[in-house]
Amino acid sequence: MQVLPEGTHITMRPMTLADLDQVNAIEQVSFSSPWPEKAFFYELTQNQHALCWVAEWIGKDERPIIVADIVIWLILEEAHIGTLAVRPEFRGQRIAQRLLAKALLASAKSGATQALLEVRASNQAAQNLYQKFGFKQVGVRPGYYQDTKEDAVLMTLTPIDPVKLAELAEYG
Ligand SMILES: CC(C)(COP(=O)(O)OP(=O)(O)OC[C@H]1O[C@@H](n2cnc3c(N)ncnc32)[C@H](O)[C@@H]1OP(=O)(O)O)[C@@H](O)C(=O)NCCC(=O)NCCS
Repeated sequence: MQVLPEGTHITMRPMTLADLDQVNAIEQVSFSSPWPEKAFFYELTQNQHALCWVAEWIGKDERPIIVADIVIWLILEEAHIGTLAVRPEFRGQRIAQRLLAKALLASAKSGATQALLEVRASNQAAQNLYQKFGFKQVGVRPGYYQDTKEDAVLMTLTPIDPVKLAELAEYG
């Protein structure tokens, strides 16, 4: 695991409209079919069931940089992870782990007891991340991704365990 430069740190906080340019840039370099910026605008301004968070790198003398984003849809007791991405040069520092853990803790506080997501069958890095949280593969959605017709692996976490999430949120 890489280590952040001394005197710098990462904070996790709810996304704001001012973050959208940077969030969009992360999405564009992270996915073959990225969400358009207007999708984040919609989630932030129209969807009261969306939990949108970012990880922000606070350098020594520089302006803070958004280094990761996550959107979770809260539907009754279910937290559905819509997107999660980390700026490429900041990967491997447990930023996704900490952001996902904090966002799922916030979801649990809002009443979620289980989590669900789809991930590309070829995306082993993301599947490893989710397995570390205890997500289990429960199915496959054949040809789910329109760009490549790749299958989606469906993973669920039942139940959400706040104690384990708190450990994952701090570890790193
Ligand atoms: C997947 C992604 C979010 C991981 O972000 P990250 O901050 O680098 O991940 P973390 O450092 O928090 O890793 C946590 C765990 O995930 C797994 N993991 C992350 N990157 C991995 C990699 N390249 N190879 C294998 N396992 C990996 C490991 O289990 C790791 O735990 P460890 O540190 O104990 O080994 C990032 O690679 C990314 O943005 N990818 C493109 C977008 C994407 O695929 N998003 C997920 C959509 S479902």
